[in-house]
Amino acid sequence: MALTFPYYVCFLLLLVHPFLASAQTSGNISLGASLSAKNDNSSWLSPSGDFAFGFRQVVQNGFLLAIWFNKIPEQTIVWSANRNSLVPSGSTVQLTSKGLLILNDKAGRQIWTAISLGTGVTYAAMLDTGNFVLASNGSVNLWESFDEPTDTILPTQIMNQGTELIANYLETNYSNGRFKFMLQGDGNLILYTVSYPFTTSNAAYWSTQSSIPSGYQVVYNQTGYIYLIARNGTVLNPVLSNPVSAQDFYQRATIDYDGILRQYVHLKPGASSSTKWPVGWNILSFIPGNICLRIEGATGSGACGYNSYCSIGNDQRPSCQCPEGYSFVDPNDVRQGCKQDFVSQSCDLSSPETDSFSFVDMPNTDWPLSDYEYFGSSSEDWCRQACLGDCYCDVAIFRDGNCWKKKMPLSNGRMDPSTGGKALIKVRTDNSTLPAATSGPKRKDRSTLILTGSVLLGFSIVLNVLSMAVASVFFSRSKKEKEDKIQPCQSMPDMNLKSFTYEELKKATGDFQEELGSGAFGTVYKGAYTHENGKTIAVKRLDKMVAEGEQEFKTEVKVIGRTNHKNLVQLVGFCNEGQHRLLVYEYMSNGSLATFLFGDSVPNWYRRTQIAFAIARGLLYLHEECSSQIIHCDIKPQNILLDESLTPKISDFGLAKLLKTDQTRTTTALRGTKGYVAPEWFKNLPVTAKIDVYSFGILLLELICRRRNFDLEVKEQSQIVLADYAYDCYKEGKSHVLVEDEEEAVEDMKKVERFLMVAIWCIQEEPSLRPAMKKVVQMLEGAVHVPIPPDPASFIGSTD
Ligand SMILES: *[C@@H]1O[C@H](CO)[C@@H](O)[C@H](O)[C@H]1NC(C)=O
Ligand SMILES: *[C@@H]1O[C@H](CO)[C@@H](O)[C@H](O)[C@H]1NC(C)=O
Ligand SMILES: *[C@@H]1O[C@H](CO)[C@@H](O)[C@H](O)[C@H]1NC(C)=O
Ligand SMILES: *[C@@H]1O[C@H](CO)[C@@H](O)[C@H](O)[C@H]1NC(C)=O
Ligand SMILES: *[C@@H]1O[C@H](CO)[C@@H](O)[C@H](O)[C@H]1NC(C)=O
Ligand SMILES: *[C@@H]1O[C@H](CO)[C@@H](O)[C@H](O)[C@H]1NC(C)=O
Ligand SMILES: *[C@@H]1O[C@H](CO)[C@@H](O)[C@H](O)[C@H]1NC(C)=O
Repeated sequence: MALTFPYYVCFLLLLVHPFLASAQTSGNISLGASLSAKNDNSSWLSPSGDFAFGFRQVVQNGFLLAIWFNKIPEQTIVWSANRNSLVPSGSTVQLTSKGLLILNDKAGRQIWTAISLGTGVTYAAMLDTGNFVLASNGSVNLWESFDEPTDTILPTQIMNQGTELIANYLETNYSNGRFKFMLQGDGNLILYTVSYPFTTSNAAYWSTQSSIPSGYQVVYNQTGYIYLIARNGTVLNPVLSNPVSAQDFYQRATIDYDGILRQYVHLKPGASSSTKWPVGWNILSFIPGNICLRIEGATGSGACGYNSYCSIGNDQRPSCQCPEGYSFVDPNDVRQGCKQDFVSQSCDLSSPETDSFSFVDMPNTDWPLSDYEYFGSSSEDWCRQACLGDCYCDVAIFRDGNCWKKKMPLSNGRMDPSTGGKALIKVRTDNSTLPAATSGPKRKDRSTLILTGSVLLGFSIVLNVLSMAVASVFFSRSKKEKEDKIQPCQSMPDMNLKSFTYEELKKATGDFQEELGSGAFGTVYKGAYTHENGKTIAVKRLDKMVAEGEQEFKTEVKVIGRTNHKNLVQLVGFCNEGQHRLLVYEYMSNGSLATFLFGDSVPNWYRRTQIAFAIARGLLYLHEECSSQIIHCDIKPQNILLDESLTPKISDFGLAKLLKTDQTRTTTALRGTKGYVAPEWFKNLPVTAKIDVYSFGILLLELICRRRNFDLEVKEQSQIVLADYAYDCYKEGKSHVLVEDEEEAVEDMKKVERFLMVAIWCIQEEPSLRPAMKKVVQMLEGAVHVPIPPDPASFIGSTD
């Protein structure tokens, strides 16, 4: 008899089921009320019925305690309590008699509870804003769902410092995903990838990037504006701002599972449909503009999974794909990345397998962070051969004479017209020798190896000798090609570089006694020729050299030696002996521009304009007038030297290439002192001549304003970073304050303004917006019109 009782209860429940289905309470929820998880959609509604609070069945036997838009077919979820631990049917949520809101699973275990500010909760309510609140007798909200958002914010909702929105794992998997949007405690508003499965921040890919972050709250107001405000209420940055009629539209801003923060609108049921919007949710705007290009984390896979690449489709969404020869690890979760469909190349020297592989060309594709070897001044054919003959190489990137070798897992893959160059994907062409399972071992089975080894031993020796011969022919040819490519700079028909012995230079510098300075590349010593009537020289000892081949060093030194321009410090010789790598330059008796400009006797306005012209012409020469372009990478006043007649000359050019670039790159956070270094440098993007244009822009500002770009001894905080301050002054039509109390400049305001506009063009954060040096020279000289420059940071702006 005992057994029949439960069945009886079940029967009763089934009978009341239709009634429960429509048991949607609206208005205040009193103490003691509860809901249980079953497939009947019972919920607590807001007075208008726009929002519902209750259980949503999201998988077979998994329920989410959630808030959703209740009147639209999508029933879009905007908040949930237990995204990482779904509860089974029969679980309950109860507002206890003591005023606690508790989610218990079927077995009575507590899964989640609302931590309210204090005791004294007398009722709960689902509000028409989408906020679920626990309130006291006096209608004070002691707990709000708005304070603990999941992935969405709604109009009237505020994000305080420390609040983060975490994306869903997939569109319909509500677990914590791979991206987040947060207002940090330090006032920065940032989009981050997370170190999945944790939610800790990994790589920032968008931020409000103000140099003095002071964000206090993110506000979403009822008419569709989302903006960052300071503690005093001033609007600091618009985030996503679109006027929306709150009467006719529902709206929300969600960080979607693909990492994009989107603002959506949906026509309300019954609203006049005289609008242009199609049914369903419509995207008003989103950030960042192109997520594929934005993520540059030193760790993590990027916007898509490892070995896959990201591209923006016509629908403006990022799409993740696998290169040819690769396929998704999980087609239902493409961000888990791609795997090779073939067995990797054998590293066994006796069977190099080079004939079994070929390349699939993918233009405009790159995995910018996965290279392990780099070769400058190479040809595409050389690049292909180099990767083919290297069992570690899975992909090679070839772009503008540069060749990068990459190995798996490839990260931050992207395909975009701005990338340029091409990716060469190495794939196995013959699969006849494949073992049955495609996931076979990389190395052949030991026993077969020994067997084939002994059979082929005699043959393999012959083969080795043969291949060595082929290789030496190939390498000597490629070397020749390389040298042929480098043609002398136009104005330097003869090269007159001296080769010194280490002993000679040691003697010339008195055993490296008098130090003139030291920089990123090494230390400079004063010296004198022991012959040639003791002419003074500067000897630079390179200490952070990469151990590249001798040939590499000679090639680069020759390139530097072939330059000849009155605004470049002349290289007169070098030493390349064993471990020792030294460069010998003409001596500059008046030291660096930094001492001159920021010292006691500031050069007058006229001289400063002459210095600006000179540096610009020197850079133009390096970028465009040598047939092999030289990018300086470190333009700053310390690297501009002055000779005895105060002619400025650029020093240290050509050295960036000698130094392994990664050693000097620091991947600090997005925010930081704005120095001379263009933002793309920190993002490990391909370095172009535009990096020098940026540095020149900062230097030009310093020349105009007679102060350092970063200066803490200023009157107001807003003046600390010159780049920001100068633009603010320019924008407000107050350029004259930058040269205040300098009569000569004030009388020449037209030129001051022209120089300022050129500088602002040069410091555009988007490299493609910066003019080439040729244009810079023309604009400085007044030969061409200078258009009105945009805000240097504008491409970081709201709709990006
Ligand atoms: C809910 O309770 C509060 C406080 O008692 C009251 O002010 C409010 O009008 C009630 N709302 C509804 C819809 O009953
Ligand atoms: C619950 O809601 C879903 C989605 O709107 C609907 O398909 C289903 O029929 C509803 N179930 C009940 C019992 O009302
Ligand atoms: C709430 O307030 C009403 C009237 O102000 C009072 O009668 C009632 O006792 C209060 N309830 C609690 C739980 O404090
Ligand atoms: C969502 O994805 C995570 C990660 O793959 C997985 O652990 C979880 O089970 C998924 N949840 C559902 C409801 O499928
Ligand atoms: C929302 O913010 C915008 C921009 O600050 C403003 O124009 C608008 O009036 C605000 N709307 C409301 C309802 O406060
Ligand atoms: C408010 O704060 C911001 C940033 O902290 C500042 O720039 C602005 O001048 C302040 N405005 C007022 C009215 O105090
Ligand atoms: C290699 O594999 C592909 C796909 O499995 C197949 O279509 C092709 O015929 C194979 N080629 C050889 C040479 O076996």
